[in-house]
Amino acid sequence: MNETLENSCDILFTGGEVIDGTGAERLRADVAVTGDRISAIGDLGAWRAGQKIDANGRIVAPGFIDVHTHDDNLLFRDADMTPKTSQGVTSVVVGNCGVSLAPLVLGGAPPPPPMDLLGNSADYRFERFGDYLDALDATPPAANAAFLIGHSTLRLGAMSDVTRAANGGEIDAMAKVVEEAMRSGATGFSTGLIYAPNKAAPTDEIVALAQVAGDAGGMYVTHMRDEGADIDKSLDETFEIGRRAGLAVVVSHHKCAGRENHGRSAETLARFDSARAGQKVGLDVYPYTAGSTVIMVDMVDAAERVVITWSEARPEFAGRDLADIAAELGCSARDAAAQLIPGGAIYFLMDEGDVRRILAYPHAMVGSDGLPHDAHPHPRLWGTFPRVLGHYARDLGLISLEDAVRRMTGLSAEQFGLKDRGVLRQGGFADITMFDPATIIDSATFEQPMTPAAGIDMVMVNGEIIRQEGRVTGARPGRALRRNV
Ligand code: ZN
Ligand code: CU
Repeated sequence: MNETLENSCDILFTGGEVIDGTGAERLRADVAVTGDRISAIGDLGAWRAGQKIDANGRIVAPGFIDVHTHDDNLLFRDADMTPKTSQGVTSVVVGNCGVSLAPLVLGGAPPPPPMDLLGNSADYRFERFGDYLDALDATPPAANAAFLIGHSTLRLGAMSDVTRAANGGEIDAMAKVVEEAMRSGATGFSTGLIYAPNKAAPTDEIVALAQVAGDAGGMYVTHMRDEGADIDKSLDETFEIGRRAGLAVVVSHHKCAGRENHGRSAETLARFDSARAGQKVGLDVYPYTAGSTVIMVDMVDAAERVVITWSEARPEFAGRDLADIAAELGCSARDAAAQLIPGGAIYFLMDEGDVRRILAYPHAMVGSDGLPHDAHPHPRLWGTFPRVLGHYARDLGLISLEDAVRRMTGLSAEQFGLKDRGVLRQGGFADITMFDPATIIDSATFEQPMTPAAGIDMVMVNGEIIRQEGRVTGARPGRALRRNV
C-alpha cells in the first residue's frame, strides 16, 4: 500500500474522545477524514493533515439525525438549516405526520391545516416526488435529508373530498404516486391520523398504500389516531398495519396525552415490547412535556396550558398564553382559539415521568418534531438534541451519554436505512459533531425559543465543515438521501 496516502488525510481531529454511535463506551482516539469519508480512527498522531482540529476535552460523535422533522421546505428557505445544524444535526427525515411538501400543486388555494405548517400555497409546487428531490440536488442545503411521502398530501392530490374513505380508483391513483416516490428514493410512507385531511382514512386504505411502500423496501411512520384515552387501540392499529403490509413501523413522538393518561407509558412501552417480539417496531420522542401543532379547538380542553405559536388572523398573539388572550377578548379559551385559526399552538399535555420513561426506553430514537416556520416556535425546534445530552443524560443521569448519542445516531440510521451514516467507523460518511460534554445544553425556552444551544463546537457534513465556533461557514454539502443509494 502507498504509505503517503495511508498516513495523510484532509482533516484530522486530534486528542478527542470518540463516541461512535453504537452505544459503546467512549474511547480516546483521533479521527481522520479524507474527501467525504472517515479514513481512519485510532492513534494518528504521526499523520499529516491538510487541517487539524484540536478535540482535546471534546467528544467527537456522529452527526445527529433528526428522525422527526417538518423541514421539507426549510431545506430551501434556510439552506443553512440553522435551527438544526446549531444543535449538531447533520441529517433530517422530512415528510412526517402525513404531511410532505411533495407531490402536490396547490395553485393559489391556501394549504388546509396542517399542510400550512410547511409553508404557503406557492411552496406546494412539485408535481412529482422526484422533482422535489431534483430541486434539492440543484440547490443543496447544509444538512442531508431523507424523505417520507405523506398520506394527507396524497389524499389532497387524489381526492375531491378528503372527509371520507378513498374509493378504489382513488386508492389506485395514490398507490401510483407512492410507487413513483419510492422509485425516486423515498424512505417510506407517513400518516397523521388526527388531522382533517387524513383522519377519514380507514385502516384498509392505509394498509393498501403502506404495502406499496413496503414492497419497495420502505417503512411506515405514523402520528397515530389517538395519543390519549384510546392509545391502546391506536397502537394495535399501527402494529396491525405493519404486519398486514409487511413493513417496519415507527410510532412518531410517542406520548401519553391528557392528565387522565399520565403514567400510562409503563403500559404502552410493554405493548411495544410484545409487538417487537414478532415484527419491526420503533418509536421516536422529544424531550418536553408540551406538544405543538396547528390550533385545534378540541385540544384546548385537554391541555393544562396553551401558548399560541402563530396566527394568521392575529399575528400579534404569537408567544402569548391562550388564557390571557381569552380574558382580553372576553370569551372562552375555545372561542378564542377558533378565532385565531389558521394558526399554531403549544399544548402542555404530558407528564414528566412519562417523558423520562419513554426517553429511557432502549429502542426510542430522538426526534425534534420542530416546526420551523412558526413565529414563536416550541423550543424543541432549537433545543431537542443538546437537551437530551446535557439535561437528561449528563445532569439527570437518566441514560449514559453514549446511549443518548446512540438514540440520535446509530439507532436512527439503522431504523431509517441511512447507509454508512450514524456510526463513526472507517469508510463511513464523515458526518461529525464535536461537542463539549461539560457544557452542552439547550438554551431555547418557551419564552425565548429561537436561541441556539451551547456546547456544540463543530459540525461536519460529508467531510465539509458547515459550522464552527457558533458560526455557519456557508458550505452546503448536504445531500438528498435516496433509499438504498
Ligand atoms: Zn405529528
Ligand atoms: Cu410531526
